[in-house]
Amino acid sequence: MEDIEKQAMTELADVKTRKELQAFEARFLGRKGLITLGLKGLKDLPKDRRKERAMVLNSLRKKLQDAIPAREAEIIRMETGEAAAHEHFDISLPGMSNHAGHPHPLTLVQEDIIDVFERMGFYVMDYPEVETDFFNFEALNIPKDHPARDMQDTFFLEDGNVLRTHTSAGQVRAMQELEPPFSAIFPGRVYRYEATDASHDNTFDQVEGLMLDHRISVANMMYYMQVLLEAVLKRKMTVRLRPGYFPFVEPGFELDIQCMVCGGKGCPVCKHSGWVELMPCGLVHPNVIRAGRLDPDQWQGWAFGLGMSRMVMMRYEIDDIRNLLGGDLRFIEQF
Ligand code: PHE
Repeated sequence: MEDIEKQAMTELADVKTRKELQAFEARFLGRKGLITLGLKGLKDLPKDRRKERAMVLNSLRKKLQDAIPAREAEIIRMETGEAAAHEHFDISLPGMSNHAGHPHPLTLVQEDIIDVFERMGFYVMDYPEVETDFFNFEALNIPKDHPARDMQDTFFLEDGNVLRTHTSAGQVRAMQELEPPFSAIFPGRVYRYEATDASHDNTFDQVEGLMLDHRISVANMMYYMQVLLEAVLKRKMTVRLRPGYFPFVEPGFELDIQCMVCGGKGCPVCKHSGWVELMPCGLVHPNVIRAGRLDPDQWQGWAFGLGMSRMVMMRYEIDDIRNLLGGDLRFIEQF
């Protein structure tokens, strides 16, 4: 028995790689290893020798259980030492620090909006950013050559599709897909072929709201828009409606909020009017309902389109929209 122990220890000292070490471990401690077999064989020994043999085997097992991990650590040290010897390794370089990730401010606002509307029974829908001319324009009562196409400068793709210019592109998709009556919001990214400045980017985010039912009122629409504003800005807002033109709503409106900077007295931010334009909206045009394969004599709807990027700017007092998707971590890490 002593021989086994000596043999094991010399062999272990000769093991040079982790693979060899595994084989060694299997040979002694494995299910068919020498020690395991030895312990199993005890019952064939004369009674008086069993105890002594068991003690020797168990003590060897214990020794190996300590010695194998120790040898493994040595091997690893040798391997990395060798690797380091072949590499240029500058110990004076600063270490890498761990950056903790966190949600983007756009995500934070979007989550607040989804949270409130989901609790009111709205579907939250997601539609393609690469959109057909039909859903982005035609179905929304904007035929080809209609001057309203110029309201939104469009990225046209070579295959005839467009990068959607507004989340309104989801309206007719929703009508064809959901069983009315329904209410839904669709937050998403939209694209405009535009020169950028502090308040315009070619890529930004909107949230569309759409409700379809037999009897729909402007008052009802205003209620939901106010809920939306309060969910994001965390305070009660004074709002007003004034007429606005969009081919896919009739009547169409612009929802303004009282300027948060001056409280309605007038300041440069609100161009001294006391009001800030925030959300276009209106009752869904009968032609759009028809495009959704529904009967406009039976179904009515309201829709609003909120500039989510603008809401993020107001909530966090960001003065340049280009910061939002600019990818500068020094900006993003402030939220
Ligand atoms: N889609 C329009 C835009 O982006 C906004 C809008 C949405 C207007 C819904 C009316 C109703 O300019």
